[in-house]
Amino acid sequence: MAITIIIGAQWGDEGKGKIVDYLSKDVDIVARFQGGNNAGHTVVYEDKELVLHLIPCGILHKDIACVIGSGVVINPKVLIEEIENLQALGVNIENRVFVSEIANIIMPYHTCLDRINEQIRGKGKIGTTGKGIGPAYMDMVARVGIRAIDLLEEEIFVKKLKKNLEEKKFFLKQYNGWGEFDFSKIKEGYLEYGQKLRKYLLNTVVYLDEAIRKQKKILFEGAQGTLLDVCYGTFPYVTSSNTIAGGACTGIGIGPTVINKVVGITKAYTTRVGGGPFPTEFSEEMNSNIRTKGKEFGATTGRPRRCGWLDMVALKYAKQVNGFRNIVVTKLDILSGLKDIKICIGYKYEQEVLKNFPHSLKVLRECEPIYETFPGWQEDISGISDYKDLPFNAKKYLLWIEKMLEVKVDLISIGPKRNQIVRKD
Ligand code: GDP
Ligand code: IMO
Ligand code: MG
Repeated sequence: MAITIIIGAQWGDEGKGKIVDYLSKDVDIVARFQGGNNAGHTVVYEDKELVLHLIPCGILHKDIACVIGSGVVINPKVLIEEIENLQALGVNIENRVFVSEIANIIMPYHTCLDRINEQIRGKGKIGTTGKGIGPAYMDMVARVGIRAIDLLEEEIFVKKLKKNLEEKKFFLKQYNGWGEFDFSKIKEGYLEYGQKLRKYLLNTVVYLDEAIRKQKKILFEGAQGTLLDVCYGTFPYVTSSNTIAGGACTGIGIGPTVINKVVGITKAYTTRVGGGPFPTEFSEEMNSNIRTKGKEFGATTGRPRRCGWLDMVALKYAKQVNGFRNIVVTKLDILSGLKDIKICIGYKYEQEVLKNFPHSLKVLRECEPIYETFPGWQEDISGISDYKDLPFNAKKYLLWIEKMLEVKVDLISIGPKRNQIVRKD
């Protein structure tokens, strides 16, 4: 399909990076549309694990252009480091990385505010990645944010920076956070970042419009996941952007009429990192088993991920808000060796059985998952290349997901490497 949006159907870390890298072989452009370096997308490149935070995961295919859209909040230091890191690995970046000149910039006070806000929240903290994502989006919406293009226009930048520092000082002084900021140091540092990034900045709206008119194949790479969407996720335990498919249109500046396909990525189980409700979360022992086996530690922060069974109520909701008809199931290999596998098919709350994902945090916290149990499989499946060679019970699990969710499973991922993937049909 010419224009496809890839989104996480759960709470992030579904394996989007691996799948985007795999699918990139058939496209011309890969574009990120939201989030920032809170994202950690892992790809295995020449047998080495590589985590990308800002640059789209198509970068490892040499003829593909990579776009960072206006909906992404950019920490320029991180972006420059990521570019240099890729160059050191021998990846050619020149004339293939394009950054929207109107993307908002993460400033040092954003990371400081992120940290302080979390401290103030105390026990109710969100468990953010601490990268300044929320405060940077707050400034965008408040119309005071500094945008990439401002880094090239000293007079405008200085004016905006002064105004911002003045505003932030008001808040930060109360929390002893003010001492960290020196106007001249930030000014010099960020103007220098601007010069380093100058050649990558572009009017990406025009670039993508032309690409679409030339019928180029484009993949939009979502970050985070549906249940972390600022509006539709488990608010307030969410990130600060629209992670759902609709976010691709606003975050990149394209109309919905050009989208041909939306694909949801889901693990064969569920994980979540940070605070917030998680109805199907495993008990302590099982959590620890799957975390170890699945190497479930955050790619950005290294924090242990919380693990649980696959949740059909949540996935059905993800289908509703994203409109996907196709999914990719990742990490099926991690379920090998279990005697039984469970899937949540409803939530019991008080005397009611809920089949739709509730918006109330109280209900989500207090509901009890209703499970259907499947017999597991014992074989190691990580070397399989043909769908028909998967164990009978693994196929049964996948077919059941397809039927229950009324979607088509396009691909099944059975290991972190690019070739550890099985096409279903
Ligand atoms: P993303 O944020 O959605 O790109 O996912 P992450 O990179 O944060 O986390 C997914 C992790 O699972 C990474 O360590 C991947 O290398 C790994 N991974 C992806 N697909 C598979 C799979 O099918 N099997 C196994 N065992 N690991 C996988
Ligand atoms: P990828 O793209 C998993 C979570 C954080 C926290 C909440 C808010 O790799 O799937 P933020 O720093 O965004 O304000 O944190 O969102 N979070 C993620 N969880 N994967 C991610 O990205 C995430 N990005 C943010 O843990 O709960
Ligand atoms: Mg991740």
